[in-house]
Amino acid sequence: MARTRASTIRARKGRPFATITAYDAAFGRAAENAGIDLILVGDSLGNVVLGYASTASVTLEDMERHGAAVVRGTNRAHVAIDLPFMSYEPSNEEAIRSAGRLIRVGASSVKLEGGVERAERIAAIVGANIPVIAHIGVTPQTASLDEGFGRRTDRERLLADADAVAAAGAFAVVLENVDPAIARVITARLAIPTIGIGSGADCDAQILVLYDLLGLTVDPPPFAKPYADLGALATAAIRRYADDVAAGRDQTGTPLTSRARANATAAATAPIAEVCAADVSIETPVKRPFTAPKTTSAAKVTIADQIRPRCVDGSTM
Ligand code: KIV
Repeated sequence: MARTRASTIRARKGRPFATITAYDAAFGRAAENAGIDLILVGDSLGNVVLGYASTASVTLEDMERHGAAVVRGTNRAHVAIDLPFMSYEPSNEEAIRSAGRLIRVGASSVKLEGGVERAERIAAIVGANIPVIAHIGVTPQTASLDEGFGRRTDRERLLADADAVAAAGAFAVVLENVDPAIARVITARLAIPTIGIGSGADCDAQILVLYDLLGLTVDPPPFAKPYADLGALATAAIRRYADDVAAGRDQTGTPLTSRARANATAAATAPIAEVCAADVSIETPVKRPFTAPKTTSAAKVTIADQIRPRCVDGSTM
């Protein structure tokens, strides 16, 4: 099945549609199955998946790897991949080369940040037949260096940026944290769809960072509405698994052998050194060349001994 093209997205101008970020095959598939046909592999990857404080730490290699994973997990969605910090700023040639690398891993288009000052780069990439999504308002790659992440309200500047990126050939433009009244004017003014995030309901489309939507982000921005709490679900599931193991149940529900149960009980209740002793005396009380410690002092327990008590599944140790 052919992927949704940039021209199809552009033609959606005036009809509301949802877009979402994704960073791997599983969530790319989930987004596509939910009917999303514009998925952005955003460099928010750096914050929500890789644990960086800033998207400026994200590399082109990061975007290639995660972009390719989303492409592999999807069939018909348009997959736009972000050009990361400093992969397009230095020159038109470098911008085209970087965009080309993302196209090679399966991107349907690329996105870059900036308005008037980046229009030339957008035109260069579009000139190489690579579709571009622009991104104005808050531009996170450099926001912390200067203006911060607060709402953008400079009407003249925002209109100039919007006009410049549209004239340069972008087929859509993200408006991040733009005053909703100004976003409405930009949306009415441009022939290309505006994709809003924190910029009000009057944009043509909306985008959310997937991890914010799923409740996986520790400190989401105030405009990001969580639609689920997967963070809490994941913690509860992992705790249930850990409880099963501590209680001597395996993951299939199969009861463990009495030996394993004894080990599990010992592991759950005794200090490390005592568990070593319990394990050894249950399994091979005579043959194993191991002298069970007579004391609970950790200083007398070897590393191998400390690892052993955790093997409570009944397999041979
Ligand atoms: O990197 C990203 O996820 C983005 C969206 C917030 C638009 O640029």
